[in-house]
Amino acid sequence: MGCSRNCGLISGAVIGAVLAVFGGILMPVGDMIIEKTIQKEAVLEEGTIAFQNWVKTGTEVYRQFWIFDVQNPQEVIVNSSNIKVKQRGPYTYSPTPLEAEEKLTIKLEAVLEEGTIAFQNWVKTGTEVYRQFWIFDVQNPQEVIVNSSNIKVKQRGPYTYRVRYLAKENITQDPEDHTVSFVQPNGAIFEPSLSVGTENDTFTVLNLAVAAAPHLYPNAFVQVVLNSLIKKSKSSMFQVRTVKELLWGYTDPFLSLVPYPITTTIGVFYPYNNTVDGVYKVFNGKDNISKVAIIDTYKGKKNLSYWPSYCDMVNGTDAASFPPFIEKTRVLQFFSSDICRSIYAVFGADINLKGIPVYRFVLPANAFASPLQNPDNHCFCTEKIISKNCTLYGVLDIGKCKEGKPVYISLPHFLHASPEIGELIEGLNPNEEEHSTYLDVEPITGFTLQFAKRLQVNILVKPAKKIESVPKLSPSTCSEAKQEPMALVRQVQAAVYVTSSGLQRPWTPYKP
Ligand SMILES: *[C@@H]1O[C@H](CO)[C@@H](O)[C@H](O)[C@H]1NC(C)=O
Ligand SMILES: *[C@@H]1O[C@H](CO)[C@@H](O)[C@H](O)[C@H]1NC(C)=O
Ligand SMILES: *[C@@H]1O[C@H](CO)[C@@H](O)[C@H](O)[C@H]1NC(C)=O
Ligand SMILES: *[C@@H]1O[C@H](CO)[C@@H](O)[C@H](O)[C@H]1NC(C)=O
Ligand SMILES: *[C@@H]1O[C@H](CO)[C@@H](O)[C@H](O)[C@H]1NC(C)=O
Ligand SMILES: *[C@@H]1O[C@H](CO)[C@@H](O)[C@H](O)[C@H]1NC(C)=O
Ligand SMILES: *[C@@H]1O[C@H](CO)[C@@H](O)[C@H](O)[C@H]1NC(C)=O
Ligand SMILES: *[C@@H]1O[C@H](CO)[C@@H](O)[C@H](O)[C@H]1NC(C)=O
Ligand SMILES: *[C@@H]1O[C@H](CO)[C@@H](O)[C@H](O)[C@H]1NC(C)=O
Repeated sequence: MGCSRNCGLISGAVIGAVLAVFGGILMPVGDMIIEKTIQKEAVLEEGTIAFQNWVKTGTEVYRQFWIFDVQNPQEVIVNSSNIKVKQRGPYTYSPTPLEAEEKLTIKLEAVLEEGTIAFQNWVKTGTEVYRQFWIFDVQNPQEVIVNSSNIKVKQRGPYTYRVRYLAKENITQDPEDHTVSFVQPNGAIFEPSLSVGTENDTFTVLNLAVAAAPHLYPNAFVQVVLNSLIKKSKSSMFQVRTVKELLWGYTDPFLSLVPYPITTTIGVFYPYNNTVDGVYKVFNGKDNISKVAIIDTYKGKKNLSYWPSYCDMVNGTDAASFPPFIEKTRVLQFFSSDICRSIYAVFGADINLKGIPVYRFVLPANAFASPLQNPDNHCFCTEKIISKNCTLYGVLDIGKCKEGKPVYISLPHFLHASPEIGELIEGLNPNEEEHSTYLDVEPITGFTLQFAKRLQVNILVKPAKKIESVPKLSPSTCSEAKQEPMALVRQVQAAVYVTSSGLQRPWTPYKP
């Protein structure tokens, strides 16, 4: 009774809404190789191409490697005979163990240097790279605000954008240390045919500015001021925004009233267009093919300065390719600027991708485990209260890399996360098939042919003493909380993550 009104001091916890998404990238070398292979088939059958070219850099000939089994490499090398090939069926390379010469070819072609196959694919990824967004629409905003009910969400999507259509820029080879540096420009173009609606579709979502304010400004006096501005701008805990606004940015009415020069445009991926990711400096593999595509520095540094200790290291590649000759036992390390950390994938299954045998590497659940389950993760837990002394798992606080904003990354629908994180949100349906991340890597070249990178962006909503628009806790929570502060924390943290999700199916984007 009256508690929810009178408990102003501790009020505040509630949930927000969400947004967020997933993206992924795809390096469609599979298709390119296939296409070129078919084009070149006739030529090889005529037997006109010398083995020397094949060994060196003949990019076209190399592609035939994927379909033809060379029967007489020794003869060709020693006696310069014509190449005899046996076609093993389209899109297929010889399953027999590689000869030294064949390995040499691949090593030469895998180097990131003008003229190699790897380089061509690397500069510009294919045209068919999509990012698909699913957004959680809050069904009961009033009920949440007035009665502190569980939040009910309904996922709507996909809203699909073409991304990675811009070539890498400022590509600079450094022959001294065998590296190549570049930036990756960002761009997103809406694809109506692969979306359920238009960019003007509206969603009821968490008000990003109102939710983040108490987190950014814990000071009570500042909160009083902000509270008056929030009221004046008629903002509340929830807002209605279009897909375009939510993802790419809108001018926030509350922030516009703040009498300081601050950025008044916010959005989950703002700014995106006309920005670049990088500078990346990666090894070109010329001196040592086992290092090709491995990142040496990101933004000029080997460490990120977001995490303590070894968690801070920039490890592995950007996941678009890996050093060639992949064994199933290898742990593939890669760095993802979206999640502000290095992570890894382990062998999961043999997959046949349009005729090409590939290894599917998956992110193991262990990568998201709490430090109790996986001590290696201790340095990704940077805070004690929300994480309940680092016992919660499956969400990653990336605030340090988002200017202190309360942004948490998880798998969609809190897959592989502590059950209590999603328990106050109705409408979630985590499942491995739709919500996990994997990479399908062609083991000989190390190219990633298919890649589903799925993640959810969450905003943490914290209790704010002085911000009224953050809904009150229910009376029962209120009184419990008075007796036992931890109960409040528990309620708050469970209520806190807001979700949204997306996923991507690169080869054949999901059509609504
Ligand atoms: C090369 O040619 C010579 C003479 O024809 C032959 O004896 C030898 O076996 C050939 N070498 C290979 C590797 O086929
Ligand atoms: C809040 O709960 C009361 C009592 O259960 C109910 O009558 C009221 O309709 C609810 N308010 C909203 C906005 O759902
Ligand atoms: C690319 O290089 C040019 C010339 O050196 C420089 O002006 C520009 O800022 C660079 N772009 C990026 C994104 O680093
Ligand atoms: C980004 O730029 C592209 C090309 O200029 C444009 O088509 C697209 O609408 C822009 N995307 C956003 C989200 O502004
Ligand atoms: C979306 O809204 C904008 C501004 O109101 C309008 O110019 C545009 O035509 C709309 N787009 C669609 C697809 O309805
Ligand atoms: C090549 O690089 C790999 C991975 O960094 C390393 O283990 C190996 O020792 C290097 N080989 C040479 C010859 O430097
Ligand atoms: C990066 O962090 C690792 C682990 O803490 C440390 O060993 C290494 O020296 C750091 N590297 C640089 C260049 O600071
Ligand atoms: C980076 O690689 C080093 C050495 O392999 C490892 O000790 C460290 O845990 C890795 N860090 C991350 C964040 O993956
Ligand atoms: C965290 O651990 C400390 C010391 O072990 C303990 O006092 C505190 O209550 C714990 N907090 C939570 C949220 O479990």
